[in-house]
Amino acid sequence: MLIREATADDWPRIWPFWHRVVAAGETYTWDPGTSEEDARALWMNPAKQVYAVEGDDGTVVASAYVTPNYAGPAAGIANAGFMVDPDRAGRGIGRLLAGHVLDEARKAGYRGMVFNAVVETNPAVKLWTSMGFTILGTVPEAFDHPRHGRVGLHIMYKALLP
Ligand SMILES: CC(C)(COP(=O)(O)OP(=O)(O)OC[C@H]1O[C@@H](n2cnc3c(N)ncnc32)[C@H](O)[C@@H]1OP(=O)(O)O)[C@@H](O)C(=O)NCCC(=O)NCCS
Repeated sequence: MLIREATADDWPRIWPFWHRVVAAGETYTWDPGTSEEDARALWMNPAKQVYAVEGDDGTVVASAYVTPNYAGPAAGIANAGFMVDPDRAGRGIGRLLAGHVLDEARKAGYRGMVFNAVVETNPAVKLWTSMGFTILGTVPEAFDHPRHGRVGLHIMYKALLP
């Protein structure tokens, strides 16, 4: 498994699982019908530091980004997004990638990381909590989940400076 910076050439290999995850409408607040062009603008945005995870056979199995969550005097707080190919989920890739991204964000000088909208039914909540994130608050019934109905969105935070 290799975690490296993503290049524009990676996008066609990220898009199939990006689309699958977002179209499912269970984890992200993006429109499930987001077009490929709009998705690329969102994920591969030049303001973001984007990572790709290569499996042993060279395929891209996951991607993540880090970007300032706020501007100006609050630009030292990062935001990040994570996506693992659903066919490869539950095998430790997300935890490995998140560890790498947290290290990189720390090295880049970010003081903390915020997730703005973690769907409360997402198994990722357990992952982030186990990595030291806390739930600062929950926007109640903000997310219309296709299976669970209206569920809350957690704002999660982790300090990065020692
Ligand atoms: C969330 C996500 C990044 C996790 O990556 P992953 O490779 O599937 O997760 P891992 O195999 O590294 O598992 C890490 C932990 O997550 C939890 N977890 C992950 N998937 C789970 C599932 N389907 N059910 C229950 N727990 C799960 C477990 O607590 C696991 O803990 P462990 O390491 O003690 O076993 C990935 O599933 C994904 O991309 N999901 C869709 C997009 C998404 O939700 N992104 C995050 C938005 S906040």
